[in-house]
Amino acid sequence: MNIPLQQQLAGQTAIITGGAGGIGRATAARLISEGAQVVITDINNDAGHAAAKMLGDQALFVQHDVTQASQWQNVIDHTISAYGNLNILVNNAGVCIFNGLLDYSLEEIQTTLNINLLSVMLGTQAAAPHIFKAGGGAIINMSSSEGLSSVNGLSAYIASKWAVRGYTKASAMELGPLGIRVNSVHPGGVNTPMANPTALEKTEFDEPYKKYPAQHGAEPENIASVVAFLASADAVHCMGAEIAVDGGMTTGKYIDFLPGSPNPV
Ligand SMILES: NC(=O)c1ccc[n+]([C@@H]2O[C@H](COP(=O)([O-])OP(=O)(O)OC[C@H]3O[C@@H](n4cnc5c(N)ncnc54)[C@H](O)[C@@H]3O)[C@@H](O)[C@H]2O)c1
Repeated sequence: MNIPLQQQLAGQTAIITGGAGGIGRATAARLISEGAQVVITDINNDAGHAAAKMLGDQALFVQHDVTQASQWQNVIDHTISAYGNLNILVNNAGVCIFNGLLDYSLEEIQTTLNINLLSVMLGTQAAAPHIFKAGGGAIINMSSSEGLSSVNGLSAYIASKWAVRGYTKASAMELGPLGIRVNSVHPGGVNTPMANPTALEKTEFDEPYKKYPAQHGAEPENIASVVAFLASADAVHCMGAEIAVDGGMTTGKYIDFLPGSPNPV
């Protein structure tokens, strides 16, 4: 359920990458409910247009490959010409390619790093001067629980998401004095095409998360509400923070034969 933060984003303009679905689209809906106008971008043209239509008058879609510097300029130009300013950037687009550490192809590694990390650097460089010109604002970078911990089969993704966490801190250092707050969000197990590609029923999707404190996966709206908080004035003193929104996945895993497990054996 969305409980608006008293329309704290009224009149603000946000760019959200990877906004055609999943966490990006939910974030767009939440920021709009807080009074913002959004530009969603995505490489998927059809899904992007459909998402903008669903989001209504306060959203527009620009097709965008986040790995291309020239296309970032196009997104900024569209945003300024449509809304006149830019206050918020959500670097959300991402990919997740599973493979063994020794088996990743060069292409898989480069694709992962380009979409998950290079995009954040290009987006920050393109957007920050405009956010500064607008009097300051916020950049929110989507990392992952895998930017705080690790698992087998995801080394390229993990490297990219730890790097996003580090780049966020470096950005907070250099952009903080310009009035731009930069923070990273670390979701874990969100019910989107990325984490639930075969569209399992909710109960089946939730099953592997029983070993963590929330005992179920997240919905995209659970991440969107934290992005909205970080974009708002309520987060005025958050700079370079890493916010886990992972139902406790990075806190610990139950050992069921010890006391205190919710699933005792
Ligand atoms: N779903 C999870 O469990 C989870 C967990 C941790 C972190 N995340 C992160 O959250 C972010 C959003 O993930 P999601 O779960 O909504 O996934 P998703 O697959 O539903 O959405 C990702 C979006 O990014 C877009 N995209 C991919 N490559 C692109 C490119 N080159 N240029 C522009 N857009 C591109 C896709 O078309 C898609 O719409 C990602 O950065 C992901 O790594 C997700």
